[in-house]
Amino acid sequence: MSTFYVTTPIYYPNSEPHAGNAYTTIAADVLARYHRLKGNEVCFLTGVDEHAANVYNAAKEVGLSPQAYCDKIAPTFVKLWERLNISHDIFFRTTSDVHKRGAQKFLNVLYNNGDVYKGKYEGYYCLSCEEFFSEKELTDEKICPVHKLPLQWLEEENYFFRLSKYQDRLLAHIHENPDFVYPPARRNELLSFLESGLQDVSISRASLSWGIPFPFDPEHIIYIWIEALSNYITALGYETDSEQYRTFWPADVHMMGKDITRFHALLWPAMLMAADLPLPKHIVGHGWLTKDGEALSKTRGIFIDMDGDITTYGVDAFRYYLLREFSFGNDGDYRPARLHARYNADLANDLGNLLNRVLGLVNKNFEGVPAPTTSGEFDDEIKAMAQATIDQLDAHIKTFAFDAALETIWEFVRRINRYVQQTQVWTLAKPETKPRMGTILYTSLEALRIISVLISPFISDTAEKIQNQIGLTEFDTATAWGGLPVGIKVSRGEPIFPRIDTKKPKQPKAEAKPKKKAEKKTTHLVAFADFQKLDLRVAKILTAESIEGADRLLKLQIDLGTEKRQLVAGIAEHYTPEELVGKQVIVVANLEPATIRNVESQGMVLAGSGDAVVLATLEKEMPVGTQVR
Ligand code: MSP
Repeated sequence: MSTFYVTTPIYYPNSEPHAGNAYTTIAADVLARYHRLKGNEVCFLTGVDEHAANVYNAAKEVGLSPQAYCDKIAPTFVKLWERLNISHDIFFRTTSDVHKRGAQKFLNVLYNNGDVYKGKYEGYYCLSCEEFFSEKELTDEKICPVHKLPLQWLEEENYFFRLSKYQDRLLAHIHENPDFVYPPARRNELLSFLESGLQDVSISRASLSWGIPFPFDPEHIIYIWIEALSNYITALGYETDSEQYRTFWPADVHMMGKDITRFHALLWPAMLMAADLPLPKHIVGHGWLTKDGEALSKTRGIFIDMDGDITTYGVDAFRYYLLREFSFGNDGDYRPARLHARYNADLANDLGNLLNRVLGLVNKNFEGVPAPTTSGEFDDEIKAMAQATIDQLDAHIKTFAFDAALETIWEFVRRINRYVQQTQVWTLAKPETKPRMGTILYTSLEALRIISVLISPFISDTAEKIQNQIGLTEFDTATAWGGLPVGIKVSRGEPIFPRIDTKKPKQPKAEAKPKKKAEKKTTHLVAFADFQKLDLRVAKILTAESIEGADRLLKLQIDLGTEKRQLVAGIAEHYTPEELVGKQVIVVANLEPATIRNVESQGMVLAGSGDAVVLATLEKEMPVGTQVR
């Protein structure tokens, strides 16, 4: 059995966890669950980083000791992880004795190996980043670029770690191990940072009392980052060289946001090199979640209403949305309306309806799961696609492409929907076609069983519900085709994702903008002069192609007569690229360009959009570029 050790950052418990923390933890959870599914022995570590100055200050503000404050906040993380179905093996606290002793032992090793020395430090420091800023990183205003807070001038006698000594080894390691840092863009950032030269880092603070004392000089406390990074080994039992430590170190994946990849990909490996310990295999720095394009910030009131959205859509929809919507390495703007759309389209419609439909047909026509007795069109294709989906999923998980992983599974879901449609299975209830009906329903249910296994790392509650409804009493993790027992009694099938009314997507309170409502009323009638501002024109579609990772969008090149343009249109579910080429359409030619899924759209195609989407066109062809009024 292989082992798999995955970690999240330990989060600062200066306040309760937010959606950004949840995002990282959900991603790590998917990896942990995926590897358990594959039969690997998994250790999944998460926890809190308690000895931070921001924790100390937050405690002071409410008149609590830092320890009492941490004791109050740390459980709020555990509570959220429970709500989000996080399957961590260890929730670690850095105020634990195991960590304190482990961190001190680690520092002693660095000291004894000659990589820690005493010197003087002065510079600007961000209390939230817990980091000094070098001259070249400073702005005139001396503001932290991440937290937008004033930097503080610190001057003190410090211990230093010889980070510079490891520059060449780090460079070589990153060059020789192209998959050490994910995604590649982050790796390039690190390489250019490394090439500009590393300086030794100060690793002690004499001015602070909240922290772990230096083992060989108790006047100083260990710099938070040195202490925090060591949690990845102290939590396993580094101090006593425990069985768990020997089993799981080095880590397979350190998962985190892009903000702290540098600490993990440079400082941490250098510390491990200095202690002669093996390096983690992958450092994964994902993009940030933003709200209306801005970084989440408690102080600035920019937050995601996780609680409200989970209450409305359920935890699985929340997890699904976060991992399906955004390309993992890039920032992603959290939009409740998109969560709503994904819930109804992908979960309620594609998956929920499919299950319901198939179960309904089994119930109506058979006593339990029917036997596959015939062979017919598409059956082999479905079986082959099940295996291809399993393989592609594995490849995507290996590169931390969670969105592509889910899309791969959903392509299979949609294929089964088409299979049900193509075979018109509901028309086959007559005695002579009933064996065929049985085979098609068996094939569909078996596909759904395999789908339930594949989605289980992402949305485990849903996976279990599907298997329950199919009639399996214990969760079956096998992915080989044919594992579904014939004859088991399927349930009536309560919708696993009851549709949520499209007309009333729940808006979190903070988002309700009364001003907008007023505006809506007055924009009911449009002045003729305003209407005239629109430049509507006849255009011809030259090419159409799908956009990777965006299953509803197509990229169109159009001819406007005077020029050619590129547009993005949300019509992929209603038109194939082939049927669009050559069509005349009406476009808004003077719309501000927008970038949709990294593709620029210079205008908009008009279409009737209700349950179906139908392109607006002219009753007869006209020269391209003709104005439409
Ligand atoms: N305590 C350090 C980490 C030490 S690890 C040895 C720390 N803590 S933190 O509370 O600030 O959490 C940082 C992590 O939270 C980020 O790396 C990221 O994983 C997550 N996120 C915080 N804000 C985020 C977003 N807006 N979006 C996505 N994730 C973000 O740094």
